[in-house]
Amino acid sequence: MTNSSRSTPISLDRLVAQLQERPFAPVPLAFSAEVLEQGARDFLNFIALPDKVKDTLSLRHIPGMHPGYRIGYERRKRQKDGARDSKEFVHYTPEMSELLKDEIAQLPADLGIFLKTAEKIFRGAEATMWQVLTAFDEKFPGFSAQFKAPGSYGLLRFLKYDRLKPGDFLAVGHYDRGGCTLALAESAPGLRIGFNDTDLAPVHRDRDQALFMPALFFENLTGGMVKPAWHDVIQRSADTVNDEIARWAIVFFIDPAGTPAYTAVDAHTPKR
Ligand SMILES: [Fe+2]
Repeated sequence: MTNSSRSTPISLDRLVAQLQERPFAPVPLAFSAEVLEQGARDFLNFIALPDKVKDTLSLRHIPGMHPGYRIGYERRKRQKDGARDSKEFVHYTPEMSELLKDEIAQLPADLGIFLKTAEKIFRGAEATMWQVLTAFDEKFPGFSAQFKAPGSYGLLRFLKYDRLKPGDFLAVGHYDRGGCTLALAESAPGLRIGFNDTDLAPVHRDRDQALFMPALFFENLTGGMVKPAWHDVIQRSADTVNDEIARWAIVFFIDPAGTPAYTAVDAHTPKR
């Protein structure tokens, strides 16, 4: 798909043909890539705050949301927390500004800038995703409506991996557990996508594109027509951000109502 497709509807036949060849598809961003670059800067400024300050926004479940969904800030250390990587992330939804307003009021004023940028990205990511989901309405009537029904959720993730040692940076292979995913921006190439661990291959993303990836539930939603994207990261050491940060990425997830509670085993077991 080229940039010339920005204003034209996505063809379902082309999209499905692409996803059946390898389970990802470049989609034109429905907003400016500059907003993503601003979001990355704002996120890294937040990450540079003392842990005590960041913990004010610690991850929390919001009543009524899918059990797997928690919003806020989290820091996970490899091994210590049973995590596979050492990382920090912020899970953002537009409700966050209201739900966490007392906590946010205690934080430095420029956090407000980060949240404003995050809202722009969230709305832009929704619009970008919509181009894909509405294309499926042609074959599956009401398809996109499932992603707007009560009980469906969008979530924007700002993620930073620590640089633990010199050498290449790796993130382990998995399927995403929800409906589908947009890889919006990242500090360097390294993402690989395949149907399982035997056919992973590097993918390229243009600055004004997102990469659409079906997650586990998408296979059910399309009657098995579209398989989920197995993905990992192998990033060259020369591409690390600095001595402390290996990589950052901005990713948007959307789960329609009725998404099952997939387990870590579901996510980390390649389908052969
Ligand atoms: Fe993922």
